[in-house]
Amino acid sequence: MALPHTLITSGPTRQHLDPVRYLTNASSGQMGAALAAAALELGHKVTVVSGPVEVEYPNLCRVVPVVSTEEMLAAAAELFEDADGLIGAAAPCDYRPEVVASQKISKTGAPLELHLVETDDIVATLAARKGARWVVGFALETDDHRLRAIAKLERKHCDLIVSNGAEAMRSSHNSVEVLAPDGSTVGRFEGLKTDVARGILSVIDSRLCRPAS
Ligand code: C5P
Repeated sequence: MALPHTLITSGPTRQHLDPVRYLTNASSGQMGAALAAAALELGHKVTVVSGPVEVEYPNLCRVVPVVSTEEMLAAAAELFEDADGLIGAAAPCDYRPEVVASQKISKTGAPLELHLVETDDIVATLAARKGARWVVGFALETDDHRLRAIAKLERKHCDLIVSNGAEAMRSSHNSVEVLAPDGSTVGRFEGLKTDVARGILSVIDSRLCRPAS
């Protein structure tokens, strides 16, 4: 059997207001890097589409750097064509300013009103055209973790969703629950992100990459 080719989105994206200011999310890319390492350990071919991060990805994976959510979607959509599955571990910026100023916005003393529009959801967009490929999403919630994660799994047509809390942000540790479409818990992992990633990948590998025939 050919090695599974796993595409991972990782890190935050940035949506510029003007050439120097931007909106972003508090994401370090550590979970994405740990997932890439764990997938490589299982023999997957790994491609990572990453927003701006300081974390280092394993040498053996291909990394495609992007800045905005639109760029992440375009790169991921192209790379998904050649992948067996997607792990959406990025924290893409969900909003973008309707208008991006070409020059730095000057202060006037008055409040600055921003009109924000939603960006496209990368996981939902790719899952809508997944065919035989699998898609695993992440859900980071501050409350009602489980219910909201299952609602997201259904709305975005994911094959599994990894539910975690806000304490996951910018931390080397995480505590997650992996949920299946029928609402059951198929994995629970806690500790260093490197170990949590191994747990998540073992579930993905056994349930989605090498399902029992
Ligand atoms: O809806 P929410 O952003 O909380 O869902 C989180 C999941 O959706 C994560 O897997 C994240 O990578 C993905 N996502 C995405 N594109 C967006 C926003 C979130 O792929 N624009």
